[in-house]
Amino acid sequence: MISTLLSQLHGPDGDPGPRLAYGADYNPEQWPREVWEEDVRLMREAGVNLVSVGIFSWARIQPAQDEWDFGWLDEIMGLLHAGGIGVDLATATASPPPWLTTVHPEILPVTASGETVWPGARQHWRPTSPVFRAHALRLVRAMAERYADHPALVAWHVSNELGCHNIYDYSDDAARAFRGWLRVRYTTLDALNHAWGTAFWSQRYSDWAQILPPRLAASHPNPTQQLDFKRFSSDALKEYLRTEREVLREITPGVPVTTNFMVMGGTKGMNYPDWAGEIDFVSNDHYVRPGPQDRDELSFSANLTSGISGGRPWFLMEHSTSAVNWQPVNVPKQPGELARDALLHVAHGADAVCFFQWRQSAAGAEKYHSAMVPHAGSDSEVFRAVTNLGQTLRALSQVAGAEREPARVGIVFDWDSWWASEQDSHPTSRLDYHQEALDWYSALLALGVRADVITATTGLDRYDLLIAPVLHVIPAPLAKELTRYVESGGHLVTTYFSGVVDENDHIWLGGHPGALRELLGIRIEEFGPLRDGDAVELDGAGTGTLWTDRITVTDPAVEVLAQYRTGMYAGRPAVTRRAVGQGSAAYVSTRLGAGGLAGLLPELLATAGVESELPVSARGRVEQAVRRDADSRYLFLVNRTDEPVPLPGLTGDILTGPADAEGVLVLAPREVAVLRQPAP
Ligand code: GAL
Repeated sequence: MISTLLSQLHGPDGDPGPRLAYGADYNPEQWPREVWEEDVRLMREAGVNLVSVGIFSWARIQPAQDEWDFGWLDEIMGLLHAGGIGVDLATATASPPPWLTTVHPEILPVTASGETVWPGARQHWRPTSPVFRAHALRLVRAMAERYADHPALVAWHVSNELGCHNIYDYSDDAARAFRGWLRVRYTTLDALNHAWGTAFWSQRYSDWAQILPPRLAASHPNPTQQLDFKRFSSDALKEYLRTEREVLREITPGVPVTTNFMVMGGTKGMNYPDWAGEIDFVSNDHYVRPGPQDRDELSFSANLTSGISGGRPWFLMEHSTSAVNWQPVNVPKQPGELARDALLHVAHGADAVCFFQWRQSAAGAEKYHSAMVPHAGSDSEVFRAVTNLGQTLRALSQVAGAEREPARVGIVFDWDSWWASEQDSHPTSRLDYHQEALDWYSALLALGVRADVITATTGLDRYDLLIAPVLHVIPAPLAKELTRYVESGGHLVTTYFSGVVDENDHIWLGGHPGALRELLGIRIEEFGPLRDGDAVELDGAGTGTLWTDRITVTDPAVEVLAQYRTGMYAGRPAVTRRAVGQGSAAYVSTRLGAGGLAGLLPELLATAGVESELPVSARGRVEQAVRRDADSRYLFLVNRTDEPVPLPGLTGDILTGPADAEGVLVLAPREVAVLRQPAP
């Protein structure tokens, strides 16, 4: 689907052929008519070939229940087409207009404590509201029928960042839909009562009608009820996505459908791996949140998006040219960052590089958010950087369609474990699932070792080393699969609070981690979480925070890689590894942080026979990612530092031409090189 879409896009000179898409969200309704012509002219100058139109246009397209105004959109579609720019057309359902919420306030979401989420911003709708759906689907149908045969239309963009503001709704509609979802999951009330452990605190249900979403309660709400509500809430939006998609498929079966995910930082409400099968190609939005690991997080998110897309190319649907407007302090990007951030996404499989947004708004809540054309106009550093990036992407056209080349290390990222491990009433409320996974990723980046972030626990055998941080929820089939992986020679590493519960959030009894106890050859009688500011020293493996475990080794094949030197469990094992045939199963019982893990990993990598593919001098300073197609292998080398980095022995950069006279490719600060090599 993506390749057909990309082949419809043309360069500014009309040149055909495979290419990467380049563009932005385009909101012409914010501007007078005379600006539109200039927009198209500047888009051509910048090399833009794709824009997303209509995302927040509901009120403009349908000013009243039975009034439609498509004239302006017809005109803009025509202008874009004449300019050779393809349109990723939004279904325009993201933000319901005031007339609708005035007549039907029952579409507004409700918080856990019963407050109404009022209109005034955006996304104030309940995914489960039949009234909202009827109105939204009417709009989707009208859009699809009107533009079905429009030559500018290359893809459909369902809603916008589903769940960004409305993932959890506790309304009566949600309660009804939740009960329906539970009936499908459990069939009988007995099964639900068992799964939710309702023998505890007199919570036994005798009728489905008694069940509610986990609304504000006197103490900790039932944990399985909470976990199921998270699963349900993600499914409710997925189901909504499906209903829009069905209308689009009925009317325009040949036009690919996508919706923009938000795989970034702590966005955890939507189980994207589970949504990916519902759309024709994966799209993602990513914004850098400043912090010590911000570039690692960008890489991690792009890598995870590639995992969600099954290694196939995907679209970067939004990111920023410079500052955002929603941080406490919004710092602009430094020179070179715009291109480096964009190309890092391409390195991890993005076949489109798009920004929010084309022209910086003059009014509204996002007027201080950067754009491709800033307030200063086209005579600006940002627009020059935007135009340069357009040229760079054209030079990289040949990369379009190339898939990710699997790495030898896989990091498992699992939504159920993310949701369950961070719930309340646990040994610690400080556990941060995403941070632990990111720390392992950062440590591998520091060592110059390529890793795939993967979401599925199938196809594990392609990885020599599998890292599963805080894999908290392990249903019986997964325990079996991990055991099989290790027994067939794989090397598994897992951490504290992994394998503790099953899919119902029930403890695997008999000593932790119940699901992996045999495989790891250890038994934990008690968890020893650490208070804020407390730390323990490990023999030869740095300092641990957050968590410790009281470990007893139960199998002679277990080697203790590090012991606690201080703390409650001084003298006991902290890091263990059990040899299993050609494979092994290792356990890290404390939080070592990215620095500590970089100290431990060489031992774990050596056991799995994995080494960095980078020259020694570049390790930690350069990130490497690989895409490949039938003929070629594209090696992306990204300078993570603000210093030049020489890369001896590497030649043939598509972007900058041959290496210098001594055959050394030197990456300028923040520069990205792309080497083309023959496919292996
Ligand atoms: C995204 C959203 C855009 C815009 C952007 C600003 O979450 O989809 O519409 O608000 O953030 O960073």
